[in-house]
Amino acid sequence: MPPEIPNIMSSQARCRIAPSILSADFARLGEEVRNVVDAGADWIHFDVMDNHYVPNLTIGPMVCAAIRPHVSVPIDVHLMVEPVDELIPMFAKAGADIITFHPDASRHVDRTLSLIRDHGCKAGLVFNPAESLSHMDYVMDKLDLVLLMSVNPGFGGQSFLPATLTKLRQARARIDAWTASGGQPILLEVDGGVKPDNIAEIRRAGADTFVAGSAIFGQPDYKQVIEALRSEIAKGESLQA
Ligand code: DX5
Ligand code: ZN
Repeated sequence: MPPEIPNIMSSQARCRIAPSILSADFARLGEEVRNVVDAGADWIHFDVMDNHYVPNLTIGPMVCAAIRPHVSVPIDVHLMVEPVDELIPMFAKAGADIITFHPDASRHVDRTLSLIRDHGCKAGLVFNPAESLSHMDYVMDKLDLVLLMSVNPGFGGQSFLPATLTKLRQARARIDAWTASGGQPILLEVDGGVKPDNIAEIRRAGADTFVAGSAIFGQPDYKQVIEALRSEIAKGESLQA
């Protein structure tokens, strides 16, 4: 029996750290994901690029299926592909727990969100830096998470775009208003340029789930970086209170 994967909403009070394997050693991916989970990662962030929606080409459902038996944390599949729908059943079958996509890459955003949930996964929208949050408004009931890009998608190791902080506050306000009026919980994730020296500010702006690629895989000691990220998050929370 494969190990039980924790529900992504089960640790609502706690922030989640989702290392992006884009910066891992692809020749040793099984070992890399095991090591990063042993070091304290909550999720594995899995970046799918198609050399069409973004100018880079990475990994697909077969690689997702290959790493699935190595870890028992949720796999967070970030689709940077166009079109989107055909890949959803394939990733669900490959063991994805969360599937997010960019609304400008799908002709029918509402339908794509339903398709993800119909396949038993949590669903989310991803917003590029210059993209308006307005796509959220009419699909709030179909969202399990919202992911804000804090770099232009396609590559690891870029610098965090500061305008994301304003956008995080706006997304946080939309989500809080939704849950206050009885809506389901929606996580707020951020992706790109997240480091120990800016994560407190990002937390303060309202993010609760943090993707970090080069900040973690670029260091020899994953546990040390994840602990540094968590202690900075706690600083952001104490300043928020
Ligand atoms: C970029 C990807 C990110 C990337 C983040 O298109 O979506 O997940 O791996 O890498 P860092 O943390 O290095 O900016
Ligand atoms: Zn990503």
